[in-house]
Amino acid sequence: MAQPHTTPSATERNQEEAVLNELEKYYRAGKPPWDTGVTPPELVALVEGHAALPPGRALELGCGTGTNAVYLARHGWDVVGVDLIDRAIEQARAKAAAEGTPVRLLHGDVTRLDELDAPGPYDLFFDLSCYCGIPPHRRDAYAAGLTHRAAPGARLLMFGYGPGAFDDLISGVTADELRARFTGWELVDTTPGTNPVPTFWFTLRRTADVAEATPPGTSTAGG
Ligand SMILES: C[S@@+](CC[C@H](N)C(=O)[O-])C[C@H]1O[C@@H](n2cnc3c(N)ncnc32)[C@H](O)[C@@H]1O
Repeated sequence: MAQPHTTPSATERNQEEAVLNELEKYYRAGKPPWDTGVTPPELVALVEGHAALPPGRALELGCGTGTNAVYLARHGWDVVGVDLIDRAIEQARAKAAAEGTPVRLLHGDVTRLDELDAPGPYDLFFDLSCYCGIPPHRRDAYAAGLTHRAAPGARLLMFGYGPGAFDDLISGVTADELRARFTGWELVDTTPGTNPVPTFWFTLRRTADVAEATPPGTSTAGG
């Protein structure tokens, strides 16, 4: 995994700027292709299925125009949605207001959650194809932000494109990457998507804080 560092290189800055410009272009052009207005069945199963989670606090990473954040709030969740694009957040706020659904919608970067008023703790994180487009040098910060805000046993449901799905050098996510980056989490499920290019639904669960609570050099093992 990338080493912690504070000063991004010119290449890294360019990557962040390129992603921002690309996303702004999509929202300026009208309705982005992902903005279907339909909540995916994988999230519906988690919220309404036979083993549904009890409603709690949820954070949607890259909430776009708010379809899923509003869905969660309608089902009793206390929801915060974050998106990098102000136009998306404006539309999400309008959608929530039109439905009379209380959702906190914040314009900001999910890799810089400390800059936002979103302390958590959260029981559920939902990410539909946000993480997989984040430049590699910001992904550790994404994982740390979620880890610091996760309630014990919290879930992260993430949809992501596999590497090579897009014609660029940064997009994509794999199960191995998530396992390595999300320390203190367990990858409990990886289900391939049905898209013509490789896609995956990942479910991660925040495990006990044993590693964090144990001082270096000590062990919780017996003997
Ligand atoms: C594929 S879209 C999905 C939007 C929404 N969840 C939906 O289902 O319609 C991914 C979203 O992530 C947002 N995004 C990408 N990088 C982000 C970042 N670093 N911080 C916050 N939002 C980001 C994009 O602006 C976009 O709205």
